[in-house]
Amino acid sequence: MKIAIDGPAGAGKSTIAKKVAREIGAIYVDTGAMYRAMGIFMLKKGISAEDGEAIAEASREADISIIYKDGGQHVILNGEDVTGDLRHEEVGAMASCVAKHGAVRAKLVDLQRAMAQKSSVVMDGRDIGTVVLPDAELKIYLDASADVRAKRRFLELEEKGEDHDTLDAIRADIVARDEQDKNREISPLIQADDAVYLDTSDLTIDQVTEKICELARKRSEKEAKF
Ligand code: DC
Repeated sequence: MKIAIDGPAGAGKSTIAKKVAREIGAIYVDTGAMYRAMGIFMLKKGISAEDGEAIAEASREADISIIYKDGGQHVILNGEDVTGDLRHEEVGAMASCVAKHGAVRAKLVDLQRAMAQKSSVVMDGRDIGTVVLPDAELKIYLDASADVRAKRRFLELEEKGEDHDTLDAIRADIVARDEQDKNREISPLIQADDAVYLDTSDLTIDQVTEKICELARKRSEKEAKF
């Protein structure tokens, strides 16, 4: 079974997708992590976020692969495990910039499709239901208000004891990221016609997970009948 979960940053995609994958015995694929790895590669090379030509050119040298170790997804960039660096704010911002480019997307979409061919997956991102897995048995569009998403991110950083911006600055970053991801020319973040829309603003992680698992069960029962 293939489940596609798309939506804006901070809607709870990765936490929920991970739980759903565990429940249904599928592999969780975090495609944002691949764009983030590409962002790390560009930052390391000192390439400007504005220099589209250099990004497209350099992306050919970035060898990104995914391995599963200790129950988690690890991202390997040219032989180095960069998993620990993926969540930095500057990496997220660079990921959103590199994700605008067709050369980067083509390379990563190939990798994502190859993973979905090998096993059952719960894959999250921005274009999974629309571009990567248009034939997914279940598509979910997870959303939440910008206020709720900013608050979640703020609390997450507080809990980790990491240095962070004010709530307002985090909210502004989230809104800017949404703008960029929703308005880019290639594969923008958009709800697939056949996706189920779920607003997680007033729901717990467990409630959303349960809802998706229930939808997945119904879909697989339906498939089994045919
Ligand atoms: O989900 P995330 O915050 O880890 O994603 C980082 C960036 O990567 C996000 O701003 C947009 C981009 N992305 C994308 O364009 N397509 C995907 N399938 C996943 C992520």
